[in-house]
Amino acid sequence: IGWSTDPFNPPSIPLAIRSPYSSAWLPQASTGTALNGAWATFWNGMIVGWAGYINVDGKSYIFMGDPSVRAIKATQKSSKMTPTQTIFVMDAGGVELTVSFLSPLDPGDLALQSFPFSYLSLSVTSSDGAPHNVSVYTDISAEWVTGNTSSVANWTTSTDSNLLTHQIQLADQHLLVEEHDMIQYGSAYFSTGQVQGLTYQTGEDVKVRTQFINNAKLLNSEDSQFRAVSDHWPVFALSWDLGPVTDTPNVVVAAIGHVRDPAVRFTKGGGITQDRSLYFWSQFSTVNDALAFFLNFQGVSFAHANAIDSQINSQAQQVSSDYAAVLAMSLRQAFAGTELTISKNSDGSFNTSDVLMFTKGGLFILLVSTVDVLYTMWPLFLFFNATFGKYALLPVFEATSQPATDGGAIHDLGAQYPQAIGYQSGVTPTSMPLEESGNMLIMTLSYTQCTGDKSLITTYFDVLDRWTQYLIDNTAEPGNQLSTDSFAGPLNNQVNLAIKGVVGIKAMSVIANLTGDSDRSSRYSAIAANYSTYIQQLSTSSDRQHLDLTYKDDNSWGLAYNLYADKLLGTNVFPDSVFSMETAWYNKQFDQFGVALDTRNKYTLSQWEIWTAAIVDSDAVRDNLISSVVKVASAGISNKPFGDWYDTTNGTINGFTARPVVGGHFALVRPHPHVSPLTLSSGCF
Ligand SMILES: *[C@@H]1O[C@H](CO)[C@@H](O)[C@H](O)[C@H]1NC(C)=O
Ligand SMILES: *[C@@H]1O[C@H](CO)[C@@H](O)[C@H](O)[C@H]1NC(C)=O
Ligand SMILES: *[C@@H]1O[C@H](CO)[C@@H](O)[C@H](O)[C@H]1NC(C)=O
Ligand SMILES: *[C@@H]1O[C@H](CO)[C@@H](O)[C@H](O)[C@H]1NC(C)=O
Ligand SMILES: *[C@@H]1O[C@H](CO)[C@@H](O)[C@H](O)[C@H]1NC(C)=O
Ligand SMILES: *[C@@H]1O[C@H](CO)[C@@H](O)[C@H](O)[C@H]1NC(C)=O
Ligand SMILES: *[C@@H]1O[C@H](CO)[C@@H](O)[C@H](O)[C@H]1NC(C)=O
Ligand SMILES: *[C@@H]1O[C@H](CO)[C@@H](O)[C@H](O)[C@H]1NC(C)=O
Repeated sequence: IGWSTDPFNPPSIPLAIRSPYSSAWLPQASTGTALNGAWATFWNGMIVGWAGYINVDGKSYIFMGDPSVRAIKATQKSSKMTPTQTIFVMDAGGVELTVSFLSPLDPGDLALQSFPFSYLSLSVTSSDGAPHNVSVYTDISAEWVTGNTSSVANWTTSTDSNLLTHQIQLADQHLLVEEHDMIQYGSAYFSTGQVQGLTYQTGEDVKVRTQFINNAKLLNSEDSQFRAVSDHWPVFALSWDLGPVTDTPNVVVAAIGHVRDPAVRFTKGGGITQDRSLYFWSQFSTVNDALAFFLNFQGVSFAHANAIDSQINSQAQQVSSDYAAVLAMSLRQAFAGTELTISKNSDGSFNTSDVLMFTKGGLFILLVSTVDVLYTMWPLFLFFNATFGKYALLPVFEATSQPATDGGAIHDLGAQYPQAIGYQSGVTPTSMPLEESGNMLIMTLSYTQCTGDKSLITTYFDVLDRWTQYLIDNTAEPGNQLSTDSFAGPLNNQVNLAIKGVVGIKAMSVIANLTGDSDRSSRYSAIAANYSTYIQQLSTSSDRQHLDLTYKDDNSWGLAYNLYADKLLGTNVFPDSVFSMETAWYNKQFDQFGVALDTRNKYTLSQWEIWTAAIVDSDAVRDNLISSVVKVASAGISNKPFGDWYDTTNGTINGFTARPVVGGHFALVRPHPHVSPLTLSSGCF
């Protein structure tokens, strides 16, 4: 493709990826697309205009986007993707331009973790030994606030002694409403620190870009003719005169993101509804204050990000370089589906002891905080900060004051992000009682084991026990239920679901033990042991080659990825012989792009390939499963953000895209009986 890629070229390259609505990617066609070969897109594929030019000694080059105002194309030399950053190196007229996109994440600081902002850093050095006069330019369009370019936007540019900020919003705001996956209220921000040589301009795309190309600077002027996004395309531009550039890097940084308030509406059990704000509002009273901090903090942010990147990389490399590549693709995508929020007290102050995290599932998946999505992401929470996992579980507990009609744990908190308002009577929510009850028990015990914090198991003991009762009544004969792989339809007596039920019951046995209820603990432990034996009897094929997909159907099999929970919790309700039997079987079932989910269809999910990789007792099978994910992600088949559901025979992606479930890819970043032990700084293991 003419430039080097590290570690590989994904279907769409993450640029600024910080929330369900701060989302800009660079789609890659089969041959790869340079930063100046296409427009950035929202995760669903709609363009979010973002252009960049560099002027070197009076000559302009384009380095980002695909604007109609032409200039010489800078030559892309490389693109590199790390868990937190994407870095392009371009050549233009004797200078080297490094364009870095950082979407910072912070396990130790809730305000920083909740910022919906990314950095764009432009660093220029002379590459031919001679000094060059350089200016750089970047603009965004109002496509950052709507998927309908006929919508009318308005905007302001504010300057003070610290900051220059473009703010853009829809003139017609609709609270808590999405259209074309974008949110219909709040504002996009494009901001930078005041420095010598900074100029700005707002106005029609062609005029503003031509101004820069011809003059290497902007007019410090504003277009106040508010209009539709596509009506003489208003753009919001920043430019920096860097002066003579030598071989010392000359760096400028901008911040970009979409902010709204409230972020999420949440109905707790008991009918109390609250509008919740992103956590950072508890520490900054205006977005400009937050942006000023964010831009001031950039040096620390880049250093933190480099440390996180190298920690993830070095731990993943102990498994394989392909595993490091999978994680480089997964971290930002996973957290972009989450938001950390806080509520207000009645006097308007923030209640800092009420932190909740909400998740949005991805394309076509508008549901709020789907429990099996949390379960899939769980390894990421454990790796990054298990307390974030607690913040994600709490809304589910808090919404569960009444038993669900199906008797198990609820599936999700609402049909349309960002409204976690449950369901009106008469509307039937998705029902996966065995799946979700098992998930809640497994995640709750895992959190408790990891942190030593017993608050969840003591506060919510009764509801946990109610879910366990459901499992006790339904695990041995699950009946016709959906699992998290709901697109495959319900199935009678699914073995993988029964495995989850058993581990869930055993998890409650451990929980009861931890709260001093040893009678209950031994009862549940005995039931789990009994069910484990029973399920193995009904599901081991008569030739003892594999577990069946459903009881007594020896022609069927599937990925029994819920066995991962048994290893994660150390419950050991299933014997090692089951793991080795499955390992040997999967080793014989590889298609070109991995092992199918089950015998019904030739498709799979990347997260279950990786969970399975974490439980097989052969390094070769483990490595092949992991490499199959890199193979599909790098095959040039899709140009949407990585879709976790794909065909194992030809790699075709099945519609899901940009889902946070890729947090499940972190399943091997932990010690494990079958994986060489890895050290974690979080102290979980
Ligand atoms: C850079 O700008 C200075 C001052 O305007 C000018 O004297 C010099 O010729 C320029 N250098 C190049 C290489 O254009
Ligand atoms: C995890 O988050 C909690 C809550 O914000 C914080 O107290 C703790 O220090 C964080 N842990 C790490 C390892 O950063
Ligand atoms: C886009 O917005 C215009 C103006 O508000 C409206 O008339 C049109 O129906 C919208 N189109 C779509 C596809 O939502
Ligand atoms: C832009 O529109 C919003 C929402 O209608 C309004 O509150 C705001 O005052 C407008 N801003 C400008 C600069 O007109
Ligand atoms: C703050 O939140 C906590 C946790 O939800 C809650 O127990 C407490 O009552 C809240 N405080 C106020 C003043 O509402
Ligand atoms: C319960 O705790 C006791 C004492 O720590 C331990 O011996 C026993 O194995 C535990 N049982 C379960 C089911 O965790
Ligand atoms: C499980 O418990 C039932 C009821 O007590 C008993 O009949 C059965 O033999 C037990 N099965 C196993 C495998 O222990
Ligand atoms: C990939 O295989 C599936 C069937 O497994 C088929 O439906 C699909 O059309 C194939 N895609 C391509 C591009 O061949």
